[in-house]
Amino acid sequence: MSSTTTERVFIIGGTGNTGTVAVRDLLAKKVPVTLYARNPEKVASLFSTTADDESALKVVQGDLQDLAPLKKALAGHTRLLLVVNDFENMVQIKTDVAEAAYGAGIKQIVDISSLTVTDAWRSSYIGTIHLESEQVLLAAAKAHGTNVVTLRPTRFLSNMLRHDRPGPTSFTDNADPDAPQGWISPNDIGAVAAVILSDDVKKHRNAAYTMVGDVITAKQRAEIFTRVLGRPIAYHQLTVLERYNALAAHLSFFPFTALYDLASMRDHSPLVSRGLVILLGRNPETFEEYVKANKQALTL
Ligand SMILES: NC(=O)c1ccc[n+]([C@@H]2O[C@H](COP(=O)([O-])OP(=O)(O)OC[C@H]3O[C@@H](n4cnc5c(N)ncnc54)[C@H](OP(=O)(O)O)[C@@H]3O)[C@@H](O)[C@H]2O)c1
Repeated sequence: MSSTTTERVFIIGGTGNTGTVAVRDLLAKKVPVTLYARNPEKVASLFSTTADDESALKVVQGDLQDLAPLKKALAGHTRLLLVVNDFENMVQIKTDVAEAAYGAGIKQIVDISSLTVTDAWRSSYIGTIHLESEQVLLAAAKAHGTNVVTLRPTRFLSNMLRHDRPGPTSFTDNADPDAPQGWISPNDIGAVAAVILSDDVKKHRNAAYTMVGDVITAKQRAEIFTRVLGRPIAYHQLTVLERYNALAAHLSFFPFTALYDLASMRDHSPLVSRGLVILLGRNPETFEEYVKANKQALTL
């Protein structure tokens, strides 16, 4: 896609962790975007466009619980970024969006899935809903002769700013202290999405890209927090039940099955995704780089 493009990208989830980065990168590449958002004021506070280029960013106010405004607004768009953070209705929402989008002429959907789809069949609820979502999207793309590109990220580094924040002197998890765990920056997920959405559709076809940007242990996490935040931060390993109770307190809106997975999951020999550097044109962000970039938020 060039700066003289007539293409326009429809964005679902553009005010979140990954979507914000994708929107900023697309705007920087002069690719016009339309955000489907619950709160237009939040969109205005996140992104600035110059007065002479107001059409670069449009907002369609709407909610994923009612797709009527979305369906009305899809015409005239050629690509769509799909971020759905809804563990109850994900498969249905993605099914409905795919049908509406491809029916309206969208040629490519970039979907944020999860690395958990590669776990054994039905071994987790989170993996299963993402896998079912991937399957309906791929089937819809094939039926319409269009494309879906799937991003399969491991655990987000931004979790440390939300439910996995380090406290004043320690942080908790249920992983063995020396067990390697995979991490990915939401900045890298958004950046890859923007690259794909501005590349020729034919380049990525129906690819599925694994996204593991860094692999470290909980013990190494403690060392990094201590070094970067300038205060001693120890790792406190929880039992699975303690971890479940802690997550349930923070994420009370999650269904039991998702909390069960998050509290009991363990990584299987995680490896950094070697192809990420090709998609990004640079190395992925490391755990330490993310902590440095978010030092202030982690200090408060
Ligand atoms: N966290 C992890 O470790 C991890 C790992 C692997 C995969 N994933 C997957 O990554 C995805 C989440 O990505 P993210 O972190 O970028 O999400 P996020 O930061 O939670 O952002 C969610 C976006 O969706 C919007 N949204 C939420 N509910 C909506 C509704 N009812 N109607 C319209 N818009 C709505 C939010 O808008 P508002 O700004 O209005 O809230 C926001 O723009 C999920 O599919 C998750 O399964 C996460």
